[in-house]
Amino acid sequence: MSLRALFFLFILGLNFVSCTTPKVSNTEPSDSLLIRFGDSVAQEMQRVLLQNVAQAIQKGGTDFAVSFCNMRASQLTDSISKRHYTIVQRLTDRNRNPENYLKTATDSMAWEKITTGEQYFLEQEQDGNKYFYKPIFAAMPTCISCHGKANDIAESTHKIITNKYPNDKATGYKQGDLRGMWKILVQKDK
Ligand code: HEC
Repeated sequence: MSLRALFFLFILGLNFVSCTTPKVSNTEPSDSLLIRFGDSVAQEMQRVLLQNVAQAIQKGGTDFAVSFCNMRASQLTDSISKRHYTIVQRLTDRNRNPENYLKTATDSMAWEKITTGEQYFLEQEQDGNKYFYKPIFAAMPTCISCHGKANDIAESTHKIITNKYPNDKATGYKQGDLRGMWKILVQKDK
């Protein structure tokens, strides 16, 4: 199924949920619907990642959870992406995983907007596809136990982090700081 076909199914679903008569049209989906789709994927992704990291911490503390994130974070995001026929990335200027650095000129422009306080928006990439962008904040105390300052991170955890990510730049954050952004494919160019 194409992303577009799936998107219409999603809109149908939204319509049923809101109990209005579903309208299927062959016009382009409006930007506000693309934003709704992007945001629902971002929220699901955030919920699943958070659940998993909390469970891993409970099971074996932050040492265990770092290894868990290292092996599982991209696996989790990939499987949710597949289910929604989309592509989801977490990008930032101070990345832990080398894969997560701002990649394109559009990413840099979007990051600029986010650092000046924009909440969410769509951008068209060079490839013609549309992407949804939204900030990720280090909103919870848990985030700081792996992304905080030296004295926020357990020594053993820090060792594992630098071992797995020798070029880690994702520390030094305070609770509430901007940590990165979601980039979610919401419409493919024909
Ligand atoms: C147990 C340690 C741990 C905790 C707790 C944790 N993270 Fe991470 N975080 C990591 C690891 C490890 C990676 C790299 C994952 C990978 O290799 O894909 C990462 C990557 C990220 C990324 C992708 C960008 C990058 O730097 O690679 C974002 C965004 C992020 N974390 C945000 C958060 C937020 C927000 C919280 C709190 C809700 C949080 N993290 C809690 C360990 C943690």
